[in-house]
Amino acid sequence: MTEVAAAADVLQCLFVDNQLLAEGPLYQHGWLYWVDIKGLALHRLQLATAEHQQRHVPEQITSISPRQKGGFVVTTRTGFGFIDDFSAPLHSLGTVEPALPDNRFNDAKVDPLGNLWAGTMDDLEKTPSGSLYRLTPEHQWQVFDTGYIVTNGPTFAPDGRRLYHNDSVHKQIFVFDLDASGISNKRVFAQLGVDHGHPDGMTVDAQGCLWVCEYAGWGISRFDPDGKFMAKLALPVANVTSCTFGGDQLETLYITTAAKGLTAAELAGQPLAGSIFAAAVGVQGIQGAVFLG
Ligand code: BGC
Ligand code: CA
Repeated sequence: MTEVAAAADVLQCLFVDNQLLAEGPLYQHGWLYWVDIKGLALHRLQLATAEHQQRHVPEQITSISPRQKGGFVVTTRTGFGFIDDFSAPLHSLGTVEPALPDNRFNDAKVDPLGNLWAGTMDDLEKTPSGSLYRLTPEHQWQVFDTGYIVTNGPTFAPDGRRLYHNDSVHKQIFVFDLDASGISNKRVFAQLGVDHGHPDGMTVDAQGCLWVCEYAGWGISRFDPDGKFMAKLALPVANVTSCTFGGDQLETLYITTAAKGLTAAELAGQPLAGSIFAAAVGVQGIQGAVFLG
């Protein structure tokens, strides 16, 4: 692939709002779901009709993933939980880090074995108190890595044998070997430089390349499976938080963004900050996995 331009025919804004921290896009049966972590809201948009629904949630929901039993497995500020459908109440599995009240969950994704991988972070973004957890189908959780200020973007190679994970503050993308016992052999996949923002949410395409959203980076970068930068999709907003492939053929990249922390002047320069975008990037994604518990 050569350079992807932010031409109007490539990029489309689907939902205009200065959401504080839209995250966790999920495509399912023609709907795009996402969360606004700081806005305490869960959203969904029917792509064919543009019907939009929104619900308030009493505790921050930070990610939403499909569950085999129906409904969704979610991460909340303090732990894991389930919702049976879009408007159902939350069933919580309990508090994961009771001794770390400034921590919260952030990004999460299901691996091809049906486990949910989810990271915590210091909500003040100062202390390396964040960890990467695995929640098994038996509802047991365990820490597999720690020492992060802001965790982000667990995602998996198409063959299910690698987990990618971000240290957003230090602009590092790590790769681990993944199997039924967990992750091992942590190494740096890419260290982003001054011409990139902070690696945030990410996804893989059918060619095994990584699409990495850049917070404060005005776009999404594509890396090959060896960690080599390939191209950047430019967006008209600075804080790009997460992306996922969707559509019948998984041919569209759906993108969340954030308006939190912007000054009035910055917001005037990027009035679409916090909006939801779609991009026809010319590559297909892979079908996401379903939580088996
Ligand atoms: C977090 C934000 C954070 C950002 C920075 C996001 O995933 O939810 O709170 O500011 O990453 O990289
Ligand atoms: Ca994120």
